Amino acid sequence: MEQIDYINTVKDKIKNKNQKYYILTFGCQLNENDSEKIAGMLEEMGYTKTDNISDSDLIIFNTCCVRENAEERLFGKIGEVKRLKEEKNTIIAIGGCMMQEKSMLEKIQKSYKYVDIVFGTHTIQTLPEDLYKVLIKRQKAKEILYIDGEIIEGLPIKRNDKYRASVTIMYGCNNFCTYCIVPYVRGRERSRHPNDILDEIKSLAQNGYKEITLLGQNVNSYGNDKFKYCKSKEAVEIDTFAKLLREICKIEGIEKVKFMSPHPKDFTDDVIEAIKDNPKISRMIHMPLQSGNSKVLKEMNRKYTKEDFLNLIDKMKTEIPDIHLSTDIIVGFPGETDIEFEDTLDVVRKVEFEQIFMFIYSPREGTVAASRDDQIPDDIKHKRFNRLKEIYDKQVEIQNEKYIGTIQNVLIEGPSKNDPNKLTGRTDSNKVIVFTPNGTEKIGEYVNLKITENHRWFLIGEIL
Ligand code: SAH
Ligand code: SF4
Ligand code: F3S
Repeated sequence: MEQIDYINTVKDKIKNKNQKYYILTFGCQLNENDSEKIAGMLEEMGYTKTDNISDSDLIIFNTCCVRENAEERLFGKIGEVKRLKEEKNTIIAIGGCMMQEKSMLEKIQKSYKYVDIVFGTHTIQTLPEDLYKVLIKRQKAKEILYIDGEIIEGLPIKRNDKYRASVTIMYGCNNFCTYCIVPYVRGRERSRHPNDILDEIKSLAQNGYKEITLLGQNVNSYGNDKFKYCKSKEAVEIDTFAKLLREICKIEGIEKVKFMSPHPKDFTDDVIEAIKDNPKISRMIHMPLQSGNSKVLKEMNRKYTKEDFLNLIDKMKTEIPDIHLSTDIIVGFPGETDIEFEDTLDVVRKVEFEQIFMFIYSPREGTVAASRDDQIPDDIKHKRFNRLKEIYDKQVEIQNEKYIGTIQNVLIEGPSKNDPNKLTGRTDSNKVIVFTPNGTEKIGEYVNLKITENHRWFLIGEIL
């Protein structure tokens, strides 16, 4: 509400000037979802989107700092846009996780003086005010908060997709895994009120959305904060992740529900039951392992052992027989020995994940692990990474073969990027299927496909 005056003033100022914005998002789906809200506010002010950075009047970088390479990519990009600033005075705004790091913020302010706006993860809603300052007052704008305020609801949103939507159900993280910077830049866990979440999803369903991905750094601790950061003080009955899942599955029109990321330590039986009872919930579950060695896991502060993880997976495979799993793994955590790393490979062989997101450990300033003096040399980290990749690639090949002859129900996403005469969709387990249209199918609808060929990075299917 506070921003409405700024929205209107900016709207007036840029009226009939065909002003365009360009957003580049780094990092995870939570950042993508924030960028959709940023885009929503900009469109409300009269900006239109462009994918051509040189053609834009406003450039927004929504940053990530989870690993060093995300930061390096950003600095490369800010360097590139200096020319645009000089040639056509393009407004440059930088927001997101990296701006919550004091040292990075200082670096931007000292070395990249042509940046007009900086904002943090807690202040995306002040963008209209920031633009007002730059456009009307001719000032620079800096809006960063280090405290976890009340959750902001009701921001306009411009979604990237017409059939799949992400819905953030909680912000922040309380886990403080010792390698991870997220809790420092995203603040404490704050669960949205279930009524706000359900209203958002109902409205998505009414607008033709079929798939919902629930987002949070630790979705299965939803409700642990007793909803104390919510503006709405309405009594809460749906106060656990399992209850929320069940409620969302009741919404007519929503055909698939996914979530990202759960934490193995909080994956309670009621969540497994909820998945089992609701076929709408995706059978592809992301279960971040990080390491397969109990000593390393303890030093990572993950609060589970190798055995706990394997037992949980066994239980899930028994209860939900058609389950598929994906995971995140870090190689080269400080002090990790070759023998300890073997445990990670052992878990990978046993679980047979369908998808593994592999990361080389990257020290993050201010975290416990970064201050250790037993950092692993780069060449060893790379060797371990390559070994893991080799095993994973072989597993993918074997798994792909198993799809041949099966029937998959997929949402038709649109034309294939490589061949516009073909269509694509994804299996529940996230494998891309390419198929030839027969004229009866519609983008945004589900179709049954029989898998006929395996092309390693994608599968070929036939409409049934
Ligand atoms: N909250 C989610 C994911 C957060 S970040 C979870 O707990 O699963 C996404 C992934 O980045 C993590 O799962 C982890 O594998 C990886 N990651 C986080 N910090 C890292 C670091 N310092 N170096 C390398 N990888 C890291
Ligand atoms: Fe980082 Fe751990 Fe929180 Fe995930 S659970 S965001 S890895 S601290
Ligand atoms: Fe990166 Fe922030 Fe997500 S640090 S991974 S964008 S929460």
